[in-house]
Amino acid sequence: MQKAREHWSSHLGFILVAAGSAIGLGTLWKFPYVTGENGGGLFVIIYIACTFLIGLPVFIAELIIGRAAQRGAVGSFAFLSHNQTFWKGVGWLGVLSSFLIMSFYSVLAGWGMNYVFMSLTQFWEGRTPAEISQAFTILSSSGDITLFWHLAFTALTVAVVLPGIRQGIEYWSRFMTSSLFVILLGLVCYSFTLEGFGKAFNFLFSPDASRLTAKGVLQALGLSFFTLSLGQGIMITYGSYMRKSDNIPRTGVIIAVTITVISMLVGLMIFPIIFTFGFQPEEGLGLVFKTLPVLFSKLPGALIISTTFFILFVFTALTSSIALVEVVSANFIDLLGWSRRKAVLVVGISCFIFGIPSALSNTDLVFANWKLVYGKTFFSTIDELVSTWFLPLCGLLTAIYVGWFFDRKQVEHEYRSGTNTIRFFRPWIFFVKWVAPIAVITIILNTAGVINLDGGQKEVEQEMEVETVSRS
Ligand code: PFF
Repeated sequence: MQKAREHWSSHLGFILVAAGSAIGLGTLWKFPYVTGENGGGLFVIIYIACTFLIGLPVFIAELIIGRAAQRGAVGSFAFLSHNQTFWKGVGWLGVLSSFLIMSFYSVLAGWGMNYVFMSLTQFWEGRTPAEISQAFTILSSSGDITLFWHLAFTALTVAVVLPGIRQGIEYWSRFMTSSLFVILLGLVCYSFTLEGFGKAFNFLFSPDASRLTAKGVLQALGLSFFTLSLGQGIMITYGSYMRKSDNIPRTGVIIAVTITVISMLVGLMIFPIIFTFGFQPEEGLGLVFKTLPVLFSKLPGALIISTTFFILFVFTALTSSIALVEVVSANFIDLLGWSRRKAVLVVGISCFIFGIPSALSNTDLVFANWKLVYGKTFFSTIDELVSTWFLPLCGLLTAIYVGWFFDRKQVEHEYRSGTNTIRFFRPWIFFVKWVAPIAVITIILNTAGVINLDGGQKEVEQEMEVETVSRS
């Protein structure tokens, strides 16, 4: 027997929670750094296109699966497909992705917590911009400090998830999203006054095809899935807590628009700093930590602004990590009959342990030769594996399931329940059935080199450029 499920207390409550899970380090940290690495412009356009043409339809599909089945990710696929192993596997792939993301997410958020304290001590005082940004390099190669904050953040997440969805998640998500928005707007206004703003604007919005590779397109797709929290069973689980009167398509549109607007704001906040103070857009994973404190240190009230920003950074990470831990735990509760307490604790502790090599990935303490063997740190390997491969794959299979295997009448019934605007049903199902699968498959095959849409020329050019730069 299924136990009666908890439901969100109001529709707005749900939107805030879904937005809270979606807006997180993907927008604040990943978007700027991946955009920087991929040369801006065209990458941004492709990211937005992926968000609306592929991400949004899949987002709606996930909510529909969850609300129809009233179960977590694995349980939903099992229930709807009458226990077919393959589809249950898709659910598990999503759960695995959530678990892996959480393992490095807490490392990042932990660094954010550390920056709250660094801000309180005004660590930028008497330092040049280069020295301020150098602080991150030192922090990330300090295993003990990173590990401490990784533990602190994981524990914080567990403490919030333990009591259950209403008291925990909904409560926390309520005002974070709006506070973040306000502070972002303020910072963008300041960045607007920097001399590098024009250059940043051009970098972000003028398409330059020569800077994008096939891999970049797959990264844009992965990024849009990451920011929308797709392909991990999150929205399936959250959909299962929705009421029949909640409007699924509208929720999807609101979240996709919000994510896009916030990503653009973050870009407009960060890139002017990069161009004004002579940093490189392709600085990589530490971009946010390296550039923002430089800006903050120039502002009147630096202490308050920097501290507030990093507190919000941690809170937005928290509203996302809650979702990650929740979704993994929900499956154990549903499928194995574990108590909530046991599930959350086991998941939290496992995430912490699996996150240790990520936390120590810039040190020689564990897997010292990882980078030599795999070409990137343990942290980045896990990030890339999940964001670039697992999420698009899982999103693809979800779209295929809803488009081709899920009973059409039931899909339509679920879609219509809670909305009056049914004229978008047909275009939506068309996107789920055809556009999303074909696009994702094409992008994956192109990246894997099975088909070649850009002649392979660009990669060769880029490799040559990299070589020239590294030699000079
Ligand atoms: N969407 C989140 C972000 O952009 O940071 C990441 C994420 C959070 C993914 C929660 C999945 C999730 F359940």
